[in-house]
Amino acid sequence: MTSVCEYRAGLEGVPVTQSSISFVDGQKGILEYRGIPIEELAAKSTFLESTYLLIWGKLPNRQELEEFKRDIQNHRRIKYRIRDMMKCFPESGHPMDALQASAAALGLFYSRRDLDNPVYIRDAVVRLVAKIPTMVAAFQLMRKGNDPVQPRDDLDYSANFLYMLNEREPDPLAARVFDVSLNLHAEHTINASTFSAMVTASTLTDPYAIIASAVGTLGGPLHGGANEEVIDMLEQIGSVENVRPYLEDRLERKAKIMGFGHRVYKVKDPRATILQNLAEQLFEKFGRDKYYDIAIEMERAVEEKLSHKGIYPNVDFYSGLVYRKLGIPTDLFTPVFAIARVAGWLAHWKEQIEQNRIFRPTQIYTGEHQVTYIPIEERE
Ligand code: ACO
Repeated sequence: MTSVCEYRAGLEGVPVTQSSISFVDGQKGILEYRGIPIEELAAKSTFLESTYLLIWGKLPNRQELEEFKRDIQNHRRIKYRIRDMMKCFPESGHPMDALQASAAALGLFYSRRDLDNPVYIRDAVVRLVAKIPTMVAAFQLMRKGNDPVQPRDDLDYSANFLYMLNEREPDPLAARVFDVSLNLHAEHTINASTFSAMVTASTLTDPYAIIASAVGTLGGPLHGGANEEVIDMLEQIGSVENVRPYLEDRLERKAKIMGFGHRVYKVKDPRATILQNLAEQLFEKFGRDKYYDIAIEMERAVEEKLSHKGIYPNVDFYSGLVYRKLGIPTDLFTPVFAIARVAGWLAHWKEQIEQNRIFRPTQIYTGEHQVTYIPIEERE
C-alpha cells in the first residue's frame, strides 16, 4: 500500500482515477473528448453524437446514431406521477433543486439494478439523457402555473428542448447554437460534480442516485452555478464605464470575479472562445445584448490585472449571454448545464463500474485524543 503523507487541499493535482474519456491541457488550452479536439466536435458533431462518443468510446456509425436518437426520442416523456410530484414543488424553489429531486425520483420508478448488463446500462443512459431536458422544461412551465408541453417527435434533441421550454419552435440558428453549447458542456475530466458522480457510482448504487448527487454538486456558485452569477454581475455593473471601478472594488475586497479562473486552465478556456463566437452569431441575427459590451470590457480589464495569475474567462463567462439570447431564464442556466453534463457523468459512471474500487480516502486528524467526557450539569 502506498502511503500518502502530503495533504493537498481540494485534491489539487492528485489523480483519483485512470480515464480515457476526456483530456485537458490547461497550459495550452486544449480539451479533447476521446482524443477529438473540442473545436472539431463543436463544428462537426451534434450533442447526441458526442454523448455516444463519450459513453461508448467511439463515434457511432450511421445506424448506431439513428438507433440512439430514436431511443432517446421514445423516452422523452416523463410519467404523470413525476409531473404530479413536480407540481407540488414550490415555485420559488431553485430549478436545480427541482431537477435533483426529480432525477432521484426516477430511481423509484426504475428501481431494477443490473450493473453487469450492458442492456441495463444503455437503457439507463437513454432514459436519463432523454428525460432530464423534459424535467427541466416541465418545472419551468409548471412554476409559471402552466401545464408542461409534450415533446415533439419531429424535432431533434436541442430544438425539442427549446420548444418545450419556450412553447414555440426555435429558429434553426438558435437550435444549432444551443446544441453546440450542450456539446461544449458535455464533459470536462474530474471536476467536482463528476468526482461526486464517481464517488457515488463507486458504491454500486443506481444511476439515478448518481445523477442526483452530481446535480447537487454542480449547483454551487464555484462550479456550474457561476454562469448565473456572471449575469447578475453584468447586470449589477450596468455600463461599460462601471467595469473598472467594480473590478477594483472586488479585488480590493479579495472577492472573486465570477466567470474567471479555473483550477486547470491557466489560459482562456477553449469553450469560452467558442461560446463567445456563438454569442456573436446570435447577436448578429437577433440583435446585440448590451451586456456583451460590458463582458468584453471586463475580459480586457481582468486580463490586465490578473493574467499574471493565469486568470482568464472560463466556460461560464459567455454561456449566460448565449442562454439569455435563447430565451432561457437565468436560474435555468445551471440546469441547462446539467442537461449537457449528464453525458459526461454517465460516461464516468460506466468507466467507474468497469474498474470499480469504492472511494475511501483518508484524512490527517487534527483533533484531540483521550478527552474526558464532562457530564451535562458540569458543562459551562
Ligand atoms: N477572480 C479573482 N481572483 C481569482 C479568481 C477570480 N475569479 N479565481 C482565482 N483567483 C485568484 C485567487 O484569489 C488566488 O489568488 P492568490 O494566490 O493571490 O490568493 C489565485 O487566483 C488562485 O485562486 P484559487 O481560488 O486558489 O483557485 P482554485 O483553483 O481553487 O479555484 C475557481 C478555481 C474555484 C474556479 C476560482 O477561479 C473561482 O472561484 N472562480 C470564480 C467562480 C467561477 O467562475 N467558477 C466556474 C468555474 S468553471 C466550472 O466550474 C464549470
